[in-house]
Amino acid sequence: MAKKKNEISRRKFLSSSAGAVLGIATLPLLKNEYLWSQTPSRKLKVALVGTGVRGCSTWGKTLIDNYSDVLEMVGLCDINLKRMEYAKTYMEAKSPTFIDFEQMIRETHPDTVIVTTTDCFHAKYICLAMKLGCDVITEKPLATDEKLCQDIIDTKKRTGKKLIVTFNYRYNPEAVKIKEILMSREIGDITSVDFNYYLDIYHGASYFRRWHGLKQFSGSLLVHKATHHFDLMNWWLSAEPVEVNAYGALRKYGYNSPFRGDRCMTCLNKNSCEFFWDITKNEHYMNLYVKAESEDGYIRDSCVFRKKINIWDTMNVQVQYHNRVTMSYSLNAFMPYEGYFVGFNGTKGRLDARVYHNQPWETQNLADFRITHNFKTSKTFGIRSGGSGHWGADQKMQDRIFRKPGPDPLGQAAGSREGALSILTGIAARRSIEQKRPFKIEELVKI
Ligand SMILES: NC(=O)c1ccc[n+]([C@@H]2O[C@H](COP(=O)([O-])OP(=O)(O)OC[C@H]3O[C@@H](n4cnc5c(N)ncnc54)[C@H](O)[C@@H]3O)[C@@H](O)[C@H]2O)c1
Repeated sequence: MAKKKNEISRRKFLSSSAGAVLGIATLPLLKNEYLWSQTPSRKLKVALVGTGVRGCSTWGKTLIDNYSDVLEMVGLCDINLKRMEYAKTYMEAKSPTFIDFEQMIRETHPDTVIVTTTDCFHAKYICLAMKLGCDVITEKPLATDEKLCQDIIDTKKRTGKKLIVTFNYRYNPEAVKIKEILMSREIGDITSVDFNYYLDIYHGASYFRRWHGLKQFSGSLLVHKATHHFDLMNWWLSAEPVEVNAYGALRKYGYNSPFRGDRCMTCLNKNSCEFFWDITKNEHYMNLYVKAESEDGYIRDSCVFRKKINIWDTMNVQVQYHNRVTMSYSLNAFMPYEGYFVGFNGTKGRLDARVYHNQPWETQNLADFRITHNFKTSKTFGIRSGGSGHWGADQKMQDRIFRKPGPDPLGQAAGSREGALSILTGIAARRSIEQKRPFKIEELVKI
């Protein structure tokens, strides 16, 4: 009886996801949020909230330098006036600055708000912007917990505004190649996936130096970071997650060290700590963070061994998708190299991809591929980087959003549904670790 009930509710859940069942790439562009409607008679007016390193570079300076023929930056907003004033100079922006978000919207009338704040505030600004009549482009993750996710889904439905989630990984050259191979069905139907992601002792450690180290701000790396990976998997498989089981531990950072300080800059252990990081060598970071500390106490070089760190650095997750595919995923945040392995097991063979992001050895390729056909031969090939800005991905994504919103044969554009499904895998994993039981996605939100 219990099984029947589950099946019915699962069917109900899946009936709302016909796109995934058919395969996103084969669908026509059904939802208006997939295509950015340009404002043909004038430039698109955009306002930015969150002028930190990502906001002032990718969504600030880059937009002003490369897209000023099609858009106009009309306002900047941040809670830290000093950081925002430096960011404005760095971007060479002419727009006024605001501490009060609603005042910015009232006075500058943007068509679109770009949200690049600390993760836990994305939902607040996404909802407020839509209620005030704006479309929204948000950095990942869409939100940090299930309640905030539900608020966004409901507000979007009520207001009818557009929402784009900037999944730049979908534009990485190796991710595109994987999608093309899977769409070609060269290895048949996919039955299961092995996916191991490695963050290294530099980039991985950077998450433990600031707000990302606290679940209440980032939702943990299962949300902040793995939202990219879970989105890639949803997209690669044209599938939606149904059930998640996970384990997590903090094994290297936080309370694990016998010593600690407040921050690297003033630390008594700076000569012996292998994680010592000298922020004074980075002028941009000094201006953006250290010189703005007096406003909000945001310390960019906090100790990675702070006792209050409450996220995990060692995570294992199992996911069941609606089309019976299963995935084993791991995320480790203190590895000697950075990148990932992914292996797709198909009914006709296997696809292996090894992707290099940073490693202490020479390699010509961004990724090495192997495709092995059952009872036949195996072939290998490598691919090169697509350029700067996440291997060329950031520019391709921004071109699609602001310039070339034409056909989308790989289904790379992502809206609120994709944003929600990617964080829900991570949120379910987090709840699974906290409550020591598997979690169904439908327990979390109503999409
Ligand atoms: N897609 C990617 O590859 C990628 C890369 C880096 C960062 N990001 C995302 O971009 C966002 C910003 O990351 P970052 O590295 O720039 O962080 P950051 O800490 O440098 O910047 C965050 C900014 O938000 C501001 N802020 C905090 N709370 C606010 C509030 N309530 N109202 C207004 N402003 C507020 C802070 O003052 C700061 O200026 C994050 O959501 C992160 O996940 C995405």
